[in-house]
Amino acid sequence: MNQTILLKNRPQGTPQLSDFEFQKEDKDLQISEGEILLETKYISVDPYLRGRMSDAKSYVPPFNLNEPISSGVVAQVKASKNDKFKEGDYVSGSLEWKTEQVSNGEGLTKVSEEQAPLSAYLGVLGMTGLTAFLGLHEIGKPKAGETLLVSGAAGAVGSVVGQIGKILGLRVVGIAGTDEKVELLKTDFGFDDVINYKTTEDMTQAIKTACPDGVDVYFDNVGGSISDSALFSINRFARLIICGAISVYNSTELPTGVSVQPFLVKNSALMQGFIVSNYADKFPEAIKQLSEWVSKGELKYKETIVEGFENTPQAFIDLFSGKNKGKMIVKA
Ligand SMILES: NC(=O)c1ccc[n+]([C@@H]2O[C@H](COP(=O)([O-])OP(=O)(O)OC[C@H]3O[C@@H](n4cnc5c(N)ncnc54)[C@H](OP(=O)(O)O)[C@@H]3O)[C@@H](O)[C@H]2O)c1
Repeated sequence: MNQTILLKNRPQGTPQLSDFEFQKEDKDLQISEGEILLETKYISVDPYLRGRMSDAKSYVPPFNLNEPISSGVVAQVKASKNDKFKEGDYVSGSLEWKTEQVSNGEGLTKVSEEQAPLSAYLGVLGMTGLTAFLGLHEIGKPKAGETLLVSGAAGAVGSVVGQIGKILGLRVVGIAGTDEKVELLKTDFGFDDVINYKTTEDMTQAIKTACPDGVDVYFDNVGGSISDSALFSINRFARLIICGAISVYNSTELPTGVSVQPFLVKNSALMQGFIVSNYADKFPEAIKQLSEWVSKGELKYKETIVEGFENTPQAFIDLFSGKNKGKMIVKA
């Protein structure tokens, strides 16, 4: 039985299970010359998919209603009529939320279970690892001795950003949503300090206290009021990497907040939006470095693995209430 997950409604506010629809088809898929038959093994659920579920203009086209959702997937080749792939190979790439599907192989990369667990190619050795590495280097231009502040610090991107900061010799301060995450970041990932934004009343003061020398690099995954608070601590020539704004992805009204311009002018600071796909030419060197750090044990990673293809929509929804530590992945 082949299953597909379709987008049924464009979510209003926080996505609901009723925004998704399951389709089942009891028919063997056939492949033609040049094609491969794929069985889904792991599915990446990511906050950016929320943007694709709305029809607002963005850097990627929206999903169509009543059509399959797609994201990063690791799949196994079950049958091949394509010279580049053989039965048993594992591939990673953007694929549809289906238990089985036919592909012509375009845009798929072969991945090896011997090099790393398959799920890692959707996280630390995949899109979120690349985002952390390239966002920090290309816009953050980190220097040893500086202070790096990271929001969404216990998530897939944030946890890697902070560790790279430590590898490069920065003081690293994280912001996360539970005491368990605070502890994880300090003990397992070596952050110097971490603020729980859900139990801290005065975030502006808490950031000032945790960053006594000010903030040189701010890696922003969440936007909203947390990021407003960070502005009060930025140093002269600070770099603010705007990677994501999950705190406002479900907003139904235009968010309001602190006016950033005076902070940027006063500090000659740079604030720049970051989209990982703009740096595709740098992916090979970034993956090489990330793999090296992982294999040496210098870069650790955490995954929250949800069992069962049918739980993919719920795993996606759970990102917005912080149920994940590290990368949220579904094992199909
Ligand atoms: N620009 C790019 O190319 C690119 C690429 C990948 C990801 N991103 C962005 O980077 C950010 C992180 O992505 P990810 O894949 O690593 O996700 P993630 O951080 O693994 O998961 C999302 C986390 O966001 C936090 N969160 C949820 N609602 C929040 C709120 N209202 N305020 C503050 N924190 C909230 C939750 O942690 P807590 O428990 O701490 O609240 C949750 O665990 C997202 O904004 C994503 O869109 C951008």
